[in-house]
Amino acid sequence: MSIQATLITLKNIPKGIPKPDDFEIIQSKIREPKEGEFLAETIYLALDPYVRVTMVGRHFFNTPEIGDVPRGSTISRIISSKHNSYKEGDLVVMESGMQSHAISDGADVYHVNTGSAPITTALGILGMPGFTAYSALLGPAQLREDDVVLVSAASGAVGSMVGQIASIKNAKVIGIAGGKEKCQWTIKNASMENCIDRKRDNIDQKLSELCPHGVDIFFDNTGGEIQKIVLSNHIALNSRIILSGMISQYNSSKPPSGPNLGNICKQRAIIFGFVVYDYEHMKESFIKDALSWYKQGLLHYSEDLVFGIENTPDHFIKLMKGENFGKTIVQFMDL
Ligand SMILES: NC(=O)c1ccc[n+]([C@@H]2O[C@H](COP(=O)([O-])OP(=O)(O)OC[C@H]3O[C@@H](n4cnc5c(N)ncnc54)[C@H](OP(=O)(O)O)[C@@H]3O)[C@@H](O)[C@H]2O)c1
Repeated sequence: MSIQATLITLKNIPKGIPKPDDFEIIQSKIREPKEGEFLAETIYLALDPYVRVTMVGRHFFNTPEIGDVPRGSTISRIISSKHNSYKEGDLVVMESGMQSHAISDGADVYHVNTGSAPITTALGILGMPGFTAYSALLGPAQLREDDVVLVSAASGAVGSMVGQIASIKNAKVIGIAGGKEKCQWTIKNASMENCIDRKRDNIDQKLSELCPHGVDIFFDNTGGEIQKIVLSNHIALNSRIILSGMISQYNSSKPPSGPNLGNICKQRAIIFGFVVYDYEHMKESFIKDALSWYKQGLLHYSEDLVFGIENTPDHFIKLMKGENFGKTIVQFMDL
């Protein structure tokens, strides 16, 4: 069997927001899997914000070089296998990167298990982003009933799950999102009691109105100006701050100016630098809870999906501009 794979490779290391000509689409022949390996074709590719920081060496994953295929989680179908645990036809979640085919030895691979939910949720609310929300809230954030939880990038895969899980646990949730449509969606679908439009509202003033006693948990997915305002003026006594993502600075080469840390001391707040891969021990309980919540109609999500591998660079650029609405996915072929 001789297969021509399609690969998205890096033509330049992007400066600022990536541009279409930072990427190149090439064809390459793929080899047969060896003993202990399998070959899989990509059906869905997740575009995750952290991939941008790997491109400039600011992430603990390998930094790709010019000509390399950028990272990416995929839902893939095994088309040929010499591996004992994975057989032809199996659907798996794996790290194929931005390419149509990949060979794997089974490391970091697991079978798709989305119960009654659509299969793409394995890359979103029932996958790594949903698990980020779950493990951070129930782990270091020590979510309690009646906590006031504030989450930025509230309509995204991580943010919307923060809202819904916190609400299931009887906390009050306020979101911050970009634009009226996203804000309305978070209130209707992601259990936010209110949502601040970061593009139109005065965030500082709105937070004083909505959370007069401050927030108990700040789930920060953006960093930047939002982080500065919240940490300087709006954290409650003994608050917990989850530094989940800093998307406002992923395309920037200059470090941002920091918030007023005097307020962290005054409020006896705790800041956690959070990395989801440290919480594998909570994965089993996440899947059990999330599948059950979905079945009960408690979980909703939004996806920003396009068809065609050739659209991968543009869809990634859309995510980097903050123009995506929900989990950003590229579908390469019919299921
Ligand atoms: N710590 C971990 O282990 C972990 C794991 C997974 C993800 N994350 C992080 O979680 C965050 C959300 O990830 P996601 O996959 O759910 O993505 P997402 O929220 O679907 O997409 C990113 C969103 O960030 C917002 N944004 C983009 N540029 C911004 C800017 N300059 N300033 C403020 N907001 C901006 C936009 O939403 P609005 O326009 O609505 O603001 C955009 O839609 C990312 O920062 C990601 O790196 C962390």
